[in-house]
Amino acid sequence: MKNKVGIPARGNDFFKRESEVQKILLRLADGNNLQITAPRRVGKTSILWYLRDNKMNGYAYVYIDTEAIYDTDDFFKKLLKAIVACPEVHQSTKLKDLFSKGVKAFSKIKSIKIMGNGFDVVENNEQNSYYEDLFNLLSGIVLDNSEKLIILIDEFPQTIQNIVEVSNGNEIIAKRFLQLNRDLRLNPDINERVNFIYTGSIGLNYTVASINSTAFVNDLSSVEINALSNAEAEILLLELLTNKQITIEESAKNLLLKKLEWLIPFHIQLAVQELTGLVYADKHIGIKHIDLVFDKMVEARNNNHFEHYYSRLKSQLKGNAFNYADELLQKLANEGAITKPQIFDLSVKYNQEQSYRQIIEILLYDGYINNVGDANIYRFNSPIVRMWWQKFICKN
Ligand SMILES: Nc1ncnc2c1ncn2[C@@H]1O[C@H](COP(=O)(O)OP(=O)(O)O)[C@@H](O)[C@H]1O
Ligand SMILES: [Mg+2]
Repeated sequence: MKNKVGIPARGNDFFKRESEVQKILLRLADGNNLQITAPRRVGKTSILWYLRDNKMNGYAYVYIDTEAIYDTDDFFKKLLKAIVACPEVHQSTKLKDLFSKGVKAFSKIKSIKIMGNGFDVVENNEQNSYYEDLFNLLSGIVLDNSEKLIILIDEFPQTIQNIVEVSNGNEIIAKRFLQLNRDLRLNPDINERVNFIYTGSIGLNYTVASINSTAFVNDLSSVEINALSNAEAEILLLELLTNKQITIEESAKNLLLKKLEWLIPFHIQLAVQELTGLVYADKHIGIKHIDLVFDKMVEARNNNHFEHYYSRLKSQLKGNAFNYADELLQKLANEGAITKPQIFDLSVKYNQEQSYRQIIEILLYDGYINNVGDANIYRFNSPIVRMWWQKFICKN
């Protein structure tokens, strides 16, 4: 297992997340459409790739990242292209046969043509037609060896935000977009053989709530991806170290996991990367290295791994809502904990009495803070993120 820091894990580098993967597969087997929820960097994209690469449960999977899409037609065009390019669709002789005979809804499809051994998408300027073609394709789709097609849509909430942004805040276009997606996945002909999994780095529930559109996604079944258990984190840590022929003292290992606290694979990878540098010569990790490694992890050269926490807040929260979250997190970074009454008091300073609960929800959902253990006390989710905040964000 190699230590690739920051890019979705794949193949042998993917640490098996048995319970998460099984949870997803069971829900799919029941015909559910899903949303995978977890803060940034917990491993959502890696899990989607794992499902696809291993054709889990014998399904066919299509992965699409829609982060850079700002338009409804472009979205459905990209979906259509990815679906006809996926090998199980491209090579389906049954589908080709039905298609060439114009059987079922296929006769209405304008933008897909049979080309050589497979299908291709051709340009079509009629409005809505990619959506209709996709609808017709999915409602008649047959694959040779897979009973189901699973469409994995990554960064979907970002697409919704993009659509709102380019329509200058006009929510109607985004609502129609969400409605079309819902119609697609709930159509009985489609739903039998095609399921969707949506995920993204920003919360879908928060994104749709902000445009009063919760009803358009309330059919989705949520699967939460958590951090690793202590036992899993230990296995991952040892696998990464073994690969580098590095050994670690039992006490150092326990201390590292304890200090990391939020055991997402990413933070373990980052620790291993920095430890590797520290023990370059004797390849053995002791307690003294653990004390050093946390400072290394938050050195400026690693800023690219943490800056998104701050820039995200800036783009998502405006004016006093941002100022509120900014002061709150600085206070939390400096003091370690903040109580519910303090959170409310601070909201008064920035006139956020009406909306501070929603801001706290975002901070919880997006993995900045938690109140595990005592519902009245909030803390940083990750001590590393807290350290980074103190070093680069806190003004005093
Ligand atoms: N199961 C896993 N095994 C190994 N590394 C992982 C795993 N899940 C996540 N990671 C690592 O964590 C980081 C973020 O993973 P990614 O899948 O992109 O998260 P997300 O999509 O939730 O932001 C990457 O460096 C990736 O290698
Ligand atoms: Mg991702």
